[in-house]
Amino acid sequence: MVCEGNKKSYLKTQNFKIIGQNSLRGEVKISGAKNSALVLLAASLLTDEKIILDNVPLLTDIEKMGNILENLGVNLQTKNHKLIIDSTNISIKELPYELVNGLRASFFCIGALLARFGEASIPLPGGCNIGKRPINEHITGLKALGAKIIIEKEIVKAKLVGKKSRLFGANIRLNCPSVGATETLIMAASLAEGRTVIENAAREPEIQDLCHMLNKMGAKIYDSGKEKIIIDGVKKLHGCSHKVIPDRIEAGTFLIAAAATSSSITVSPVIPNHLEAVLNKLEESGSKITKKGNSISIKGNNIKAVNVKTAPFPGFPTDLQAPFMALMTIAKGKSKISETIFENRMNHVELLNQMGSSITLKNNVAYIKGVNKLKGTTLAGSDLRSSAALVIAALVSTKVSHIYGLEHLDRGYENFELKLSQLGAEITRETTKQVTSQSEYDCDNLNKKGFAEIKVA
Ligand code: UD1
Repeated sequence: MVCEGNKKSYLKTQNFKIIGQNSLRGEVKISGAKNSALVLLAASLLTDEKIILDNVPLLTDIEKMGNILENLGVNLQTKNHKLIIDSTNISIKELPYELVNGLRASFFCIGALLARFGEASIPLPGGCNIGKRPINEHITGLKALGAKIIIEKEIVKAKLVGKKSRLFGANIRLNCPSVGATETLIMAASLAEGRTVIENAAREPEIQDLCHMLNKMGAKIYDSGKEKIIIDGVKKLHGCSHKVIPDRIEAGTFLIAAAATSSSITVSPVIPNHLEAVLNKLEESGSKITKKGNSISIKGNNIKAVNVKTAPFPGFPTDLQAPFMALMTIAKGKSKISETIFENRMNHVELLNQMGSSITLKNNVAYIKGVNKLKGTTLAGSDLRSSAALVIAALVSTKVSHIYGLEHLDRGYENFELKLSQLGAEITRETTKQVTSQSEYDCDNLNKKGFAEIKVA
């Protein structure tokens, strides 16, 4: 099993100390969307002119993507949340496994590199702790656009067929609406010869953000945000300035935290219709929601049990399934949460049960019996969103919690503890002297139930 955190021993000694049962109050500023920023960085490889990206979140995933681009020869200048990306002098070479490992989105560079240079070589991203995460849709689609692809020693090598100098447009129907595959193929098709039609495309807001930026760069993409996307390839793309959309998953996490602690907070800036499915479930479970311009306010109250089933956008996002489950653990009544996108995204169930919840899991469906209270303890989250769920559970728990797994949280939540403490949470990042040994933390050394346990010295 892969556990990217293993290598970062310094983070293994960090945890959030959370004293629960405080209510939250105030306004929280939402950062730029991680998943948008990652793909926009990949898209910047499509041009030899400068791209200026604003509202880029300061996260370890973004740093990793930046390192990958720099390894290709991209000149990156960073100033706070602004990135100036200059891909004039890049050279095509195989990306080293150490850089790509642990950042699945790095594979999304394949479409851009192939379209601009006619070749690309990227190590297989492999599975991760939420599932196998295949890339067959990316490969099949790129082949339809005229690429020859071989996988040799875990490296995906893509090239144009014969003497062609460009990819060519094609009709592609995805078997499943994969976000990454839709993005890879949009980037590749934007520099292809002729028209590409992608059917059963993913419709996530981050894809719309990508198309918006590509169109500013001179691409001709129609109907992004719909199931059928049409792209008329152009010969060249140019530079542009673009502001990353707000992170709907970060916003959703804070709203769920407010609901769980019966608090009143406002998240902004957000694009409220990106969160429609989540807001509906929050309202159904007893919260009062008010949308005003680019902000959403929530007043949490009497949490009721509601059923949730994850689905591609505009359905309930899989990335908020774990946080929402933390909310349901203390709801009145019984709820059912079904994960339909990833096959192994229920790691938090056992961890929440260790905090006193009553959840049984059967075939990726969690049956939750609401309890009156959770009890703080010491635990480690095993992936980004399960760690966020533990933080929410800790915020409502009696006693003190120590939540490890910050290497996951730092991938996707900018200044998480600062934002929470500004809302009134008692949360501090602690660096303990000798808390864990390698063997205690390793995901390769999981306990019988499959969860890494942390022992406090
Ligand atoms: C993106 C998001 C991630 C989110 C996910 C689903 C980024 C960087 N990450 O991941 O946060 O949880 O969308 O909303 O944007 N699949 C295949 N074959 C493929 C590709 C995917 O079978 O070639 C399957 C996957 O196994 C999974 C489902 O499709 O079951 C969805 O995956 P996908 O939408 O591709 O997720 P990512 O783009 O990797």
